[in-house]
Parts: sequence; C-alpha cells; structure tokens
Amino acid sequence: MNSYRIRSFIRRQGRITPGQQQAIDQLWLKYGLEPSQPYQFSQVFGRSAPLFLEIGFGNGGTLVEMAAANPEHDYLGVEVHRPGIGHLLLQLEQREVTNVRVYCHDAIDILEQQIADNSLAGVHLFFPDPWPKKRHHKRRIVRPDFIALVTRKLQQGGYFHAATDWENYAEHILDVLRQQSILANESSGGTYCKRPDYRPITKFERRGVRLGHGVWDLIFRKPT
Ligand SMILES: C[S@@+](CC[C@H](N)C(=O)[O-])C[C@H]1O[C@@H](n2cnc3c(N)ncnc32)[C@H](O)[C@@H]1O
Repeated sequence: MNSYRIRSFIRRQGRITPGQQQAIDQLWLKYGLEPSQPYQFSQVFGRSAPLFLEIGFGNGGTLVEMAAANPEHDYLGVEVHRPGIGHLLLQLEQREVTNVRVYCHDAIDILEQQIADNSLAGVHLFFPDPWPKKRHHKRRIVRPDFIALVTRKLQQGGYFHAATDWENYAEHILDVLRQQSILANESSGGTYCKRPDYRPITKFERRGVRLGHGVWDLIFRKPT
C-alpha cells in the first residue's frame, strides 16, 4: 500500500462539544497513543494480555462495553473523528475502564506501522462507512490489500469480525474474504454468523432491527 491510497474516511468538521474537547484536553495523556511513537503494548498496559483492535469505533459505545465486560483483555481503538474520541474518553473515565488505549489516526497506518505481525487476538470492524454510491465503492475499507494486512497482524487463532447493516457491503466483504485462502469462515453455512454475545447491540442497530433492517456479521479466523 502506498501513501497515495484512497482513504476510507473524510475528516468531518463535526461539532465537538465543550465536554468532549475538555475530555481530550484532560484525558488524552492517560488514554491516547501517538502514531509516531513505537510502543510495546505490554508496557503500555502493564501486562501481557490478549490484544484486540477496533477500527473506526465512532462514539466508542461498543468498545467501552466490550472492554468493561472483558477486563482480562486489552483493547486498542482507532478513530479519526475527534468528537467520538472525546465521547469515548469521557466514558472510559466515568466507568473506570483501564484496558483501552486510543489512536486518533488512519487505522491503515496504525496497522502497517504500529502493530507487530502475528500479535492481535482480534480485529473488530463494526458498521464501517458503507460508501453506498457506486462511484465511492473504492473508498470502502474492506479490500483485498486491507484483508491481507489484517491477516498478517492476527496471531494464530485470532479473528477478523466485521458487522454491517448494508447488505451490498456485507456481500462485498464476503466476496473479498472468499478471495483469500488463509482466514477461515466461522459460519457453518459459509456465509454470515449470528451476532456473537461479545458484540453488544448498539442503539442504532436496535432501531434498525425495529425498522426491519438486517445486520450481517462476518467472522473469519486465522488457523492455529
Ligand atoms: C459509520 S461509522 C461507525 C462507527 C461505529 N463503529 C459504530 O458502530 O457506531 C464508521 C467510523 O469509521 C471511522 N473510520 C473510517 N475509516 C477509518 C480509518 N481508516 N481509520 C480510522 N477510522 C476510520 C469513521 O471516522 C467513522 O467514525
């Protein structure tokens, strides 16, 4: 991948609330990581624990729930949307969740430059931007080179989990994953999985389900 690649996001100006800005000002040193700095994550967290990465965590609702429910795991969250980051930091502080660290940067760079090969227990990609217009499909984060990168970063037995409420994007993700031969589909039917209990259902998703929209979970694992 080169630095001229098409990015999967557009930096939205999005209004940041005073509370979110204050959270960033006061809490970044505690929870934030810098993309220019190499880290030993065992030193960052002060222990060696299974490490999960969430790409594009939005407001961080899922990340904080998962981290609180699994104190024996460590989590890295990557997001470019500052209001969402501020929101997450507030929640981490209020709920005294200590096993999450955050990058404000393009997740592709973080994967390429900051994450050691064969090191992640799981990569979470929940409701990625669907880029529904055909001419924007090239912006979708799930592409063969992205999956190859994720595969390299997963440890043996580690998994990639994507969820989307766009059927056409779900089909695209499945197609891309079927084109590779390392990760194995966890779905017995070779398609989609039932939402596993570890992925909390979001407010937005609950509303979608009420309106009759579908959600597709795809879980692919690196063999041991
Ligand atoms: C549709 S939102 C979903 C947010 C959240 N996962 C959820 O389920 O509510 C997708 C998010 O991914 C972020 N994003 C997209 N591409 C990214 C990238 N390459 N690196 C980091 N964040 C990215 C966007 O900023 C956006 O907040």
